[in-house]
Amino acid sequence: MEEKSDLIRDLTQMVTSVADTNNLLSLIVLATMKVMNAKAASLLRVDKKKDKLVFHTCIGEKGPEIKQLEISKGEGIVGWVAERGEAILVPDVSQDPRWSSRVADSVGLSTNSIACAPLLVNGKVLGVLEVIDHTNNALMDEDDLARLKSFSDLATGLLVKAGEYEEVAKENRFLKETMGSKHKIIGESGIIKKAIEDCAKVANSKATVLITGESGIGKELFARLVHNLSPRSAKPQVVINCGALPETLLERELFGHEKGAFTGADSRRPGLFEAADGSTMFLDEIGETSPAMQVKLLRVLQEGTFFRLGGQTPIHVDVRVVAATNKSLEKMVEEKLFREDLFYRLNVIRIELPPLRDRGEDIIVLAESFLKSFSRELNHKIKGFTPEALTAIANYSWPGNVRQLQNTIERAVIMTEADHIRLEDLPSEITQFKNNTIQVGSTLKDAVDNFKKEFIVKSLTFNKGNKTRTAEMLDIQRTYLSRLIKELGVG
Ligand SMILES: Nc1ncnc2c1ncn2[C@@H]1O[C@H](COP(=O)(O)OP(=O)(O)OP(=O)(O)O)[C@@H](O)[C@H]1O
Ligand SMILES: [Mg+2]
Repeated sequence: MEEKSDLIRDLTQMVTSVADTNNLLSLIVLATMKVMNAKAASLLRVDKKKDKLVFHTCIGEKGPEIKQLEISKGEGIVGWVAERGEAILVPDVSQDPRWSSRVADSVGLSTNSIACAPLLVNGKVLGVLEVIDHTNNALMDEDDLARLKSFSDLATGLLVKAGEYEEVAKENRFLKETMGSKHKIIGESGIIKKAIEDCAKVANSKATVLITGESGIGKELFARLVHNLSPRSAKPQVVINCGALPETLLERELFGHEKGAFTGADSRRPGLFEAADGSTMFLDEIGETSPAMQVKLLRVLQEGTFFRLGGQTPIHVDVRVVAATNKSLEKMVEEKLFREDLFYRLNVIRIELPPLRDRGEDIIVLAESFLKSFSRELNHKIKGFTPEALTAIANYSWPGNVRQLQNTIERAVIMTEADHIRLEDLPSEITQFKNNTIQVGSTLKDAVDNFKKEFIVKSLTFNKGNKTRTAEMLDIQRTYLSRLIKELGVG
């Protein structure tokens, strides 16, 4: 009777947090043990990275000690089941050569009989559920094995569903972020598409991301994407521009301070790293930080700890860091202006955004998209660009990148008196721009390559990235065009 009320109490406790897969899995293990009158029950999951079995739940005598152990695939009964994907019944372990006493011996536990079943999906083993010995010392039999299998099916179903939900949630975040939001990233070039894919790939991990590229290229936009696609997106991203504040202020902002840490510090104030606990910290213009600040940032990245100004106790936070810079950190490292160890800590995942002038097809799609949104926003009905205006836009080198293009289009939408953006609506530096890639001093081969590259970029831009049409226009084979694109490194 007492046992039953214990069970109900345990079940109630766990069911109150049904949303949590881990609790539900533990609940299944507990129910398995109680219903089967077993002395102990465990659930092990396959850890793909380690390629080992690790305990998820381990209930019964010596449970907490056993839970610390890891088991290789193929080791003992559990390892055998994980490797073969078949359920087995071992009524007497001393008679079975597959039995390995390592686990039982290491914690001083005696075992007589085991039933063990895999958690199997499409032939893939996700984990293993096992029960050990009946409480009344009767041997496990085939009926027990059948019962165990229904519990392992239950656990498998739960894992599949949880996985599905996580996939769906991930997909929703992706769609919301890339389709609907006002921070939508626009671009047709392979580079931009790949950068978006890379952000989606790394969003789930905690790995540090370093975003590099010229000013106005979209670094902040991509940093936001990483955060918004991540499971951390429920909390706001914390942003700080490391170049905007003098060192002492930056330090106070990031790490906070204790009461009396400096004149005027009349109360304790937590810093941004504490505010970003469980979320993402975007360190913009990381190349601007002083050597002393670099040391402190390195510690946060390495250990997840820091001290408030004037504080003695280390504070631990769970923060994912995304950093950006328009400087070449590699060069700064060479010149000893940036710590090499910090650079490697930041550069775990690199998103490199090339200048707009190297992404011909993006210029036109961005211009058209900005035109649409500004004419809507400013309630100025404009149908498009004249061909001359579009050619000038496509040929300009955009030193200020997307930001400059965006501002140019906004200004043109405000200024134009026609229903199209014309050449005269654009600033003179754009309409008079002559791209001059031919410079005396380079080798003939470099000059010819430069010309070829520019010519191909412009021809592709003209044809909106359509290679077949571009090849026809240039009167070359499409395969030859593809080869040139690869050889010349055309974005
Ligand atoms: N691919 C893109 N699609 C749509 N808008 C973009 C894109 N790239 C940049 N923008 C817009 O251009 C402007 C500049 O982008 P952002 O601030 O992210 O650049 P940045 O690289 O951080 O620049 P800086 O180095 O000057 O800080 C923003 O208004 C941003 O919304
Ligand atoms: Mg920026």
